[in-house]
Amino acid sequence: MVKSVPARSTPSWSAILLNHYREDYPVPETRASTVPTAMEGHGSYNRNSRVQAAALRTVVAVFGQAARMVALPPDSQPIVIADYGSSQGHNSLLPLQVAIQVLRQRVGQNREISVVHTDLPKNDFTALFQTLMESPESYLRKDPATFASAIGRSFYEQILPTGSVTLGWSSWAVQ
Ligand SMILES: C[S@@+](CC[C@H](N)C(=O)[O-])C[C@H]1O[C@@H](n2cnc3c(N)ncnc32)[C@H](O)[C@@H]1O
Repeated sequence: MVKSVPARSTPSWSAILLNHYREDYPVPETRASTVPTAMEGHGSYNRNSRVQAAALRTVVAVFGQAARMVALPPDSQPIVIADYGSSQGHNSLLPLQVAIQVLRQRVGQNREISVVHTDLPKNDFTALFQTLMESPESYLRKDPATFASAIGRSFYEQILPTGSVTLGWSSWAVQ
């Protein structure tokens, strides 16, 4: 026999407590913690993020392992690596270098690799492109079959075509 549950006429204790909580601690419509903010410009983040860089070294090997295992697109298409939350690029160079070296072992020197750096619209993309052009550790200087581009849009929405990314790196959470 199936018993029907009577409709609740009075609110539950949890609903009452929640309402009190909402009255005592109203949540502002825009919470600062949910609004993403770009790093300080003029190359400042590149110069002042050694602590973040040191923290990343432990996970770079894991990214290399992912590059070894990931399924690759057909030969006619470039391999696409996305760097989500790139900031001014300096701290992305080591993980990208490791991933590109591993991919080169898999596909040889000629396969084109596209690296897409993404960040918020206010990010210092000038510093990013200067880093990619000038740093001796840049993949652009080490590997002629790599190509750099950037997207200035929040990754809270879809920013790249469906199924187009082969491998993704994000060290956004080290801020
Ligand atoms: C702490 S920095 C990390 C930068 C760099 N990848 C590193 O490893 O040092 C975090 C970066 O994520 C970016 N960011 C934060 N929220 C974002 C979002 N919703 N979409 C895209 N980028 C975001 C910030 O602008 C900033 O450049």
